[in-house]
Amino acid sequence: MTVIHRLPDLLVNQIAAGEVVERPASVLKEVLENAVDAGSRAIEVQLEQGGVRRIRVTDDGCGIDREDLALALERHATSKIASLDDLERVGTMGFRGEALAAIAAVARTTITSRAAGSAHAWRIDGDDRSLAPAALNHGTVVDVADLYYNTPARRKFLKSEGTEFAHCDEMFRRVALARPDIALQLAHNGRVSHRLPVAPPLARVAALMGDDFVAHAREVESESGLLRVTGLASLPAYSRASRDAQYFFVNGRFVRDKLLTHAVRQAYADILHGARHPAYVLFLTLDPAGVDVNVHPAKIEVRFRDARAVHQFVFHALTRALAESGAALAGQTAAPTDASGSMPPLATTQTAAAPAYGGPPTRPAYPHPGATPMQGRLAMDSGSRAYYDFVASARPDTPDAGPSAPPPDAHAVPPATLRASDDAPPLGFALAQLHGVYILAQNTRGLVLVDMHAAHERILYEKLKTVLDGRPAVQRLLIPAVFGVGTREMAAVEEHAEVLSRMGFEIAPAGPQEVAVRSMPALLANAPVADLVRKLLEELREYPASEIITARRNELLATMACHGAVRANRQLTVPEMNALLREMEATERADQCNHGRPTWTQFSMQDLDRFFMRGQ
Ligand SMILES: Nc1ncnc2c1ncn2[C@@H]1O[C@H](COP(=O)(O)OP(=O)(O)OP(=O)(O)O)[C@@H](O)[C@H]1O
Ligand SMILES: [Mg+2]
Repeated sequence: MTVIHRLPDLLVNQIAAGEVVERPASVLKEVLENAVDAGSRAIEVQLEQGGVRRIRVTDDGCGIDREDLALALERHATSKIASLDDLERVGTMGFRGEALAAIAAVARTTITSRAAGSAHAWRIDGDDRSLAPAALNHGTVVDVADLYYNTPARRKFLKSEGTEFAHCDEMFRRVALARPDIALQLAHNGRVSHRLPVAPPLARVAALMGDDFVAHAREVESESGLLRVTGLASLPAYSRASRDAQYFFVNGRFVRDKLLTHAVRQAYADILHGARHPAYVLFLTLDPAGVDVNVHPAKIEVRFRDARAVHQFVFHALTRALAESGAALAGQTAAPTDASGSMPPLATTQTAAAPAYGGPPTRPAYPHPGATPMQGRLAMDSGSRAYYDFVASARPDTPDAGPSAPPPDAHAVPPATLRASDDAPPLGFALAQLHGVYILAQNTRGLVLVDMHAAHERILYEKLKTVLDGRPAVQRLLIPAVFGVGTREMAAVEEHAEVLSRMGFEIAPAGPQEVAVRSMPALLANAPVADLVRKLLEELREYPASEIITARRNELLATMACHGAVRANRQLTVPEMNALLREMEATERADQCNHGRPTWTQFSMQDLDRFFMRGQ
């Protein structure tokens, strides 16, 4: 007598269902993917009671022949692959041939379908596999009712109707994001919650993620050989406290992949605080042979043949898209066009002519005492001096490492008004400083507000990064700065002497608890030396020397940038402010400080008019 016996088919399928059918949303996923694989142009989903009571998916795809209907419900029966070779380059969502069998084992399932060329449709009952003629014009209707009716233990794990519906909704969104070429509709308990016509990819993304996301996202588009990534990735200001709103698709399949998540995270490392999460919708396409989708029963994980190449490709594509500073783009986008194309009124006096956009009469355009009229712009006699004080006080002595000569605009002050047709810099010209914190500037679109510390911090940070790749320019202090530090900081001075010197610091013990700073990176020449060095040593003492230059480098640079950047309440002259604006335009990632906070914002004339209800 043997104790080993074969399990009945139904039980086998019920066991398999444990892997594939976790909850209503997983049923919806499988049935939707089948409809997509069938080449449907329009798909309609009806849910009842969170999908537990009923999930009904109607498609207009190729349909299933009468002869194939019973097979569709069989385990390991599929029309999508026939060989290992097919499996290795599979292009359809499904290929395991087990989803419908698993679903039919745990819910009352019927399939009604009419294949092209059939006289009428046929319906199969998942319980007894009986076939009956039915009415349907084309395509397939899959009806899944009473999920887990025969497996009460599993039923207990279902959550509330609202929760199950939310999961179904999320599943629907994934399919809808991936396939803007298919019209999709979702209804719950008779109420339509999504009605999505066929749309260009970006419009589909906007419909599902919201215009706000699209407005605060950068377009990603990159190609290299057979690898291609497209989509939208949010700017840090749109970041969220949780990981929702993160969609990564590989060859049209939604995946959660550690490698890809890591590449994205790394691309944001420099611009987003660790506790915040970016939002994104990204589509990676590659040769199907380069990715194994047969890793997980629900196909949510994948394995890349050349994981390293994929990681680097995604990381660089995203870094590039995010690096492009909105400051550099601000002038090009959405600036109102000036039909006449005429020159702006020349501001020959400090009281300006009427503004080009037809708004209220202006105040004195630029009340700087040193201003003299010149060609519509007022030249600052002290301009170049101030520019050097501000930016190039930090000028390294090596010619290759420092900022280039000040752009001509650095000393320029604005004409009374700017038009879109003006050759004005994107962030415009500084007007004034507000409470020692914000810079007010005027550009062709309207008002620009800049958080001067945050902006300067980012500029310094980016510069420090490039400078440290070579040899940093060093500024010798006329009088060494001598100050007291703790014992552990003293130890760090010795232990990290090499790192410190590579960063441009010359620091030596000056007593048992005292150090003398003889030189520092030229970029930070304006920083409060003692504060900066103390903070730096505090950070250095936490880490072994071996880690510092690689893993901790950017953290150290961030500390240095923060201390080197202009502090609140430091009065800036207008040329200094303009110099900062020009540097922002030229700096990558200048739109946010390295904690992800925005550095500047734009108020268009329309925004302001709306606020003052002008013309209403
Ligand atoms: N909506 C549909 N329209 C046309 N054919 C369908 C539809 N749904 C299922 N089929 C057919 O039924 C077969 C079985 O579907 P099932 O989902 O069980 O397996 P699969 O999609 O091949 O693989 P997987 O288990 O990975 O989903 C499919 O291969 C397909 O031929
Ligand atoms: Mg399937």
